[in-house]
Parts: sequence; structure tokens; C-alpha cells
Amino acid sequence: MSQLKVGVIGAGSISGAHLGAYAANPDIELVAICDLNEQRAQETSAKYGIPNVYTDYRELLASSDAEAVSVCTWNNTHAEISIAALEAGKHVLCEKPLCKTVEEALRVQDAVRRSGKLLQVGVVRRYASNTDVVRRFVDAGELGDIYYAKASCLRRLGNPGGWFSDRERSGGGPLIDLGVHIIDACWYLMGRPKVKSVSGNTYRKLGNRSNIQNLSFYKAADYDAERNDVEDLANALIRFENGASLFVDVSFTLHAKQDSISVQLFGDKGGAELEPELRIVTERHDTIMNITPQVDHLSFDFVQAFGREIAHFADSCRGLKETLSPVEDGVELIKMLTAIYESAAIGKEIHF
Ligand SMILES: NC(=O)c1ccc[n+]([C@@H]2O[C@H](COP(=O)([O-])OP(=O)(O)OC[C@H]3O[C@@H](n4cnc5c(N)ncnc54)[C@H](O)[C@@H]3O)[C@@H](O)[C@H]2O)c1
Repeated sequence: MSQLKVGVIGAGSISGAHLGAYAANPDIELVAICDLNEQRAQETSAKYGIPNVYTDYRELLASSDAEAVSVCTWNNTHAEISIAALEAGKHVLCEKPLCKTVEEALRVQDAVRRSGKLLQVGVVRRYASNTDVVRRFVDAGELGDIYYAKASCLRRLGNPGGWFSDRERSGGGPLIDLGVHIIDACWYLMGRPKVKSVSGNTYRKLGNRSNIQNLSFYKAADYDAERNDVEDLANALIRFENGASLFVDVSFTLHAKQDSISVQLFGDKGGAELEPELRIVTERHDTIMNITPQVDHLSFDFVQAFGREIAHFADSCRGLKETLSPVEDGVELIKMLTAIYESAAIGKEIHF
């Protein structure tokens, strides 16, 4: 089987995870790299030995022989670049979130259907091995009916600055950036129930706290603390048509003692904790059991999860597998996220 030829659009922070996984995969050949910042694109080309370098993604789509592309750019460009790539006959791995608005999401979905090409949404936690373990328990019915999920990702200091904190380019703050991952992990494991209503709150109380010294955090490639018009905390309650509910809270900055992440699912036969460490909770012979699966990665392992996501993408491009994260799921996630922002803005529950 010949190698799948891949191009990467956007050569900033997260592109390293894509490029590293592509480079390590013997079934894939990296053929093109593009970034608005030419020096960044050239440095990436040199590091990974990528032959074709572009500063305009349209040229990459028109003249490189890439069969598939990763879209690793700012959120406000995901829809435009993905649609153009699909129309140029390329398969697309689009970083999360799929885009900024429901209208854009529907246009991307339409382009997928028209082109017959694959678009995989980069909700990388679906591909992590701890998620895979829980999914097997869920699929075997061992948690029973999952009626409640609770997800939290609180950074005390972690506004990445630059485009992340510029609402025009990002679409929002921690909710669209971090919330998308943990809402998706729960929703996916709950069996993707239909949303009935959403009630959310957002707060801008602390700013980006760029005054804090001696504590490092994730930053955009072009870090800039000047602009910050996104929320620093969001919470939401999502109700589903099957009666299940999901409670979530996320922050970029918060007066919390430490950063924390937890993702929990509760069913009528058992429970599961995906984060901070994989556990299955159940009852046997009138005794409560907390089961610790013996696996290499009890929590989300960044490098391994990207490797699995990218291997799955390549197999799906070749028709060997079905993607775990199709465009339709990206659309539903954007509906949930935008409804939370809308609910927070008007102070009322949104009914779907
Ligand atoms: N899956 C994850 O865990 C994860 C983690 C971080 C970021 N992300 C996502 O990845 C994307 C990029 O985030 P990042 O942290 O790498 O940001 P970044 O700012 O570090 O890098 C983005 C790069 O895109 C380039 N760019 C922007 N518009 C472009 C265009 N039209 N054409 C070519 N290049 C363009 C910028 O010059 C920059 O180099 C975002 O959508 C973000 O949500 C995902």
C-alpha cells in the first residue's frame, strides 16, 4: 500500500502533535506545510523534511499532491479552509472546535456531503486509550443506563493569549477551547443523546492575570496578553431528550488552589471516571468495587492519543475504518457550545 500524502495547514503549537504523529507513522508521507508566518513554515519544513512550503493554503490545495490535510489554524479559519480543502478533493482532519458558529458548521457538513470526502473532527480524547477502555464497558452494557455525567477542567492560570483570547478569532474562551473536549468525551460515552435544553453562565471577573510571575502555562505561538475579550469561567447544565443530564465547568483563570480535571459518568449499573485517573465503579455481591484497569495510560496521554487519532484518520481516508468523530458530531457540539453562550448572554435556558 502506498503512503498517504498529507499536508498540514497552520504550523503553530498544536501542529507539533500532528506532525510528530504523521512523521512517526510509516503509512504516511508529509508532503506540504503552510503557515501565514513564512519563517515558522520554513522551520517546520526543515525539522520534518517536508518538501513543499506555502504561506497561502489555497496554493497548497491547488499545487501540492496532498491527499489529506490537517487544519491546525485559528478557529475562525477552520470552516473556510476545511470547505476549500474538501472542494479540492482532500480529506480533512480539522482541529477542534469544528468552527465558530452553527451556520458555518452546517456549511462544512454540506461540503463533506457534496465532496464525498472525509472530515474527521479533532476531538482527540475520543481516541485516547482511557476513553477506549470506558467505551468497551459502556458498549457491553456494564454501566447500564448513563443518566448523569459531570465534567470539569479548571485552570487557575491558563489563558493562552493571542488569538485564543480574541473572541473574533476564537469564538470564545475556555468553553469553546477546553469545554469542547470534556463535553464531547461525556456526550460520546453517553451514546450521543439528542440535546433538549441548555442553561449556561459565563463570567469575566479576573481577566487573563498576565501579571502573575514564576508560573508557566500553555501559550499560543504568537502570545500576546494585550487583547482579552473572552470569558474566564463558564458553567452549564445540558439536558438530553432521554432524561440524562451533563454538568460542566471550565476556566482559563480562577482563584483555585490548583489546576484540576475530572470527567465522570454515572449509570444505573456502574460508573466510570475518565479523569483524573481511569476507574470503573460497580457493585458485586453487595460490595462496592472501585476497579483500576491495568493499562499503560490511566489518564489522557497527549502523544499516544494524537498517534491513535492520526492513525485512525489515515485508515479512515483509505476506507479501512470509519472515523470515530464525523462532521455531524462536530455540528452537534457547535450547537451545544453556541447555545451555552446564548443562554449566558440572555440569562435564560435555551430549548432545542
Ligand atoms: N486537540 C487539542 O488538544 C488542541 C490543543 C491546542 C490547540 N488546538 C486547536 O488547534 C488550533 C491551533 O491552535 P494552536 O495552539 O496551534 O495555535 P497557534 O497560535 O500556536 O498556531 C496557529 C497557527 O496557525 C497559523 N494560521 C492562522 N491562520 C492561518 C491561515 N489562514 N493560513 C495558514 N496559517 C494560519 C498561525 O500563523 C499560527 O502559526 C486551534 O483550533 C485550537 O483550538 C487543539
